[in-house]
Amino acid sequence: MPDFSNPFSGQAPERKLTLADLVRAIRLDLAAEEEAIHQYTAQADATDNALARKVLFDIANEERVHAGEFSRLIQLLTGDEDKWLLDGTKEVDDMAAELAGAETKTDGPAGESPTVGSLKK
Ligand SMILES: [Fe+2]
Repeated sequence: MPDFSNPFSGQAPERKLTLADLVRAIRLDLAAEEEAIHQYTAQADATDNALARKVLFDIANEERVHAGEFSRLIQLLTGDEDKWLLDGTKEVDDMAAELAGAETKTDGPAGESPTVGSLKK
C-alpha cells in the first residue's frame, strides 16, 4: 500500500538488501497482496454494479496470482518455508479430521444433524 506520508518511500536504500532484509520485504509485499484481495473483494461484495463487480473480482484474482508469486519467491529465498507451511497445513488437516470424526459420532439417522431431542435418546 502507498506510504505517502513517508517522504523517502520508494527510494532505494543506500545499501543493497541482505537476504534477511529481502525476505522481510517480500513478506510485506505478500501481505499487501492479501490486503488488496480483501479490499477488492469487499468492494465487489458491496456493490450491485455488475461491471464494477466483474472488474474487482478479476483484479482480486490477479492479486491472488501475485500472492502465489511472492509465496514461491519466499520459499526459494528461505529454503525452509515449505516445512513451516506444511506443518501448518497438517495441523489444520488434523483438526478437520478430528471434527469430521466428531460429526460422524453425533450424526443421527441418515446423516442428519443432531438435535437436542436426538441427543437425549
Ligand atoms: Fe498485486
